[in-house]
Amino acid sequence: MRVLVSGGAGYIGSHTVVALVEAGHDIVVVDDFSNAKPTVIGRLEALTGRHIPVHAFDLTDVDKTAHLFDIEEIDAVIHFAGYKAVGESVQKPLDYYENNLGSTFALVRAMQKHGVDKLVFSSSATVYGTDQAGATEDRPTFATNPYGWTKVMQEQILRDVAVADPSMRIALLRYFNPVGAHVSGTIGEDPSDIPNNLMPYIAQVAVGRREKLQVFGDDYDTPDGTGVRDYIHVVDLAAGHVAALEKLAATSEPVNTWNLGSGRGTSVLELLHAFEKAVGRELPHEIVGRRAGDVATSYADPSKANEELGWRTQKSVEEMCADTWRWQSQNPEGYPD
Ligand code: UFG
Repeated sequence: MRVLVSGGAGYIGSHTVVALVEAGHDIVVVDDFSNAKPTVIGRLEALTGRHIPVHAFDLTDVDKTAHLFDIEEIDAVIHFAGYKAVGESVQKPLDYYENNLGSTFALVRAMQKHGVDKLVFSSSATVYGTDQAGATEDRPTFATNPYGWTKVMQEQILRDVAVADPSMRIALLRYFNPVGAHVSGTIGEDPSDIPNNLMPYIAQVAVGRREKLQVFGDDYDTPDGTGVRDYIHVVDLAAGHVAALEKLAATSEPVNTWNLGSGRGTSVLELLHAFEKAVGRELPHEIVGRRAGDVATSYADPSKANEELGWRTQKSVEEMCADTWRWQSQNPEGYPD
């Protein structure tokens, strides 16, 4: 298939580009580079040995998005592009609703106009709200912040689109906590600001860009008191997208929802200690108060994806840490400008 990857220069998008090329698909990337560096594209071309066509614009621009489908032949879309910082979404709700919903409107309208019927959507475990432990796909969805609501709403919009047009084939992929990097160490997660998420923060402490990790709470009802999450290696996550896309070409179901996670929980301190092993030294940290809005425990029930996609996670927490450290130590400041 010739696959349009929106947000293809971002963290998950870039790893999925590699997986798609390896699986024999052609790629077109659209990215406005608002949260990604253009230099990632050269890295992707080196890794894949392919020229990657890139269109640099904001998908909320309806005319430009429609024009893209006029000039490129596209069989399917994987839609990653979107704002994703929970805290920022509380400060700037209109930006989040406008950008995340607007890009989906423009994209789906252009798809419909051009008869493109396959869409893989980047959703999140955040749609399970405060009920994320052992989540199965049939749990009710809700959110606790504007970012989360944009995911809940985009899922609903896509379900409604599929009711109106049952020829659509849509995958809603609910990711748990993506971490890790390509084994080459040439692509990885490169937060433009202070990292919000645990793994990139630990990696920046290890490389000396941050003084110490703050562990947000050790009084949760978990084995060691710190928050438990289902970390999934980004290369496993990318493989999940390829599997979902290929399933869409073969299914008669208009809408398919799949959790992408390992089904296993790892605490903050367990992840920190696994990272320390990868680095070979202890890393400074302190216990501080809980972060507002955090749940104690989040992990997937991935059995639906395991069965229906023939996909499951392969990589261990040790590999997640080793691969993140390879990327971070080879690129201490992230991608060059
Ligand atoms: N944590 C720390 N210190 C930090 C950062 C995080 O102790 O500096 C802890 C958190 O309290 C939590 C765990 O590490 O217990 C994981 O936190 P992350 O911020 O890495 O991930 P979250 O599970 O909070 O958030 C992720 C995605 C969101 C998504 C959410 C819910 O980043 O997009 O899962 O599914 F909404």
